[in-house]
Order: sequence, then C-alpha cells, then structure tokens
Amino acid sequence: MERTYLMVKPDGVERGLIGEIVGRFERKGLKLIAAKLMQVTPELAERHYAEHKGKVFYDRLITFITSGPVFAMVWEGDEAVAAARQLIGKTSGIEAAPGTIRGDYAIHTNYNLIHGSDSHDNALREIGIFFAEDELLDYEKVI
Ligand code: CMP
Repeated sequence: MERTYLMVKPDGVERGLIGEIVGRFERKGLKLIAAKLMQVTPELAERHYAEHKGKVFYDRLITFITSGPVFAMVWEGDEAVAAARQLIGKTSGIEAAPGTIRGDYAIHTNYNLIHGSDSHDNALREIGIFFAEDELLDYEKVI
C-alpha cells in the first residue's frame, strides 16, 4: 500500500474541474484519505518545489501556485504514485495523451491543472509539507 500527494492547481480550481479530477481517481479505485481547499503560501511553495529552484520556470511556478486556492489531497492504494501519474499524463498539456487529465483539459506546461508526486520518497515529503499526521484518515472501505 502506497500514498501519493495530489494537488489540483489554481487553474483547475478556477475552471471548476475539482469534481471531474477527483472522480477519475475515485473511479480508478484509489482511496482518498485527506483533502482540503487551501491557499499555498510562498514558504510552502518553496518547500514543495525545492528541487526546481534555479530552473528558468521556478519563479513563474511559485507565482502561479500561490495565485489562488489549490485542492490538496492524499490518496492511498497499490502503487498509488505510478497509478496517479498515469491518470495525470505528461507535464505538457500538448504532449499528454488524450484520456489523461492533462491530455483532456490542459494545453499549457505551467498551467497543467494538477500536481502528482513523482516518487514514493517525494510523496512522503510532500504529504508532510501539506498535511499534519492527524489529518490523514485511517478507515476501511466497506463497499
Ligand atoms: P508539477 O507536476 O507541479 O512539477 C513542476 C511543475 O513545473 C510542473 O508540474 C509544471 O507545471 C511546471 N513547469 C513549468 N514550466 C516547466 C518546464 N519547462 N518543464 C517542466 N515543468 C515546468
């Protein structure tokens, strides 16, 4: 069992795509164990995107992710990191395959609707940035 951190970015919230995006992970069979609509502060953004510091798109990325509310989530399931990234699609909306979230709804690389952890270790790190341990629910699916 693995956890992954997913975040509908400000463009996805503004375009009213939270429900559409969340539904795809629900239908895949992943389990939602935490979610909240929140404003990302510059401090949180810098921690989250630390690995991109120094890249040409870094400043634009920080400005965008702090520009409006995001919908932060933690999902659980077998190989949750890989499963979620398959549903999300490639970083560039143009390169992302039709049928993926970005392939269906994004045309831009910066405004690409959703973030998904790219590894197990990064998932643990990112979950720790956005959620306290007691916000992660432990429950069984009964149906
Ligand atoms: P994300 O999955 O959040 O991880 C880093 C983000 O940087 C990426 O999605 C894109 O939104 C953004 N980004 C902007 N420009 C680029 C670029 N040229 N290459 C990769 N990522 C980029």
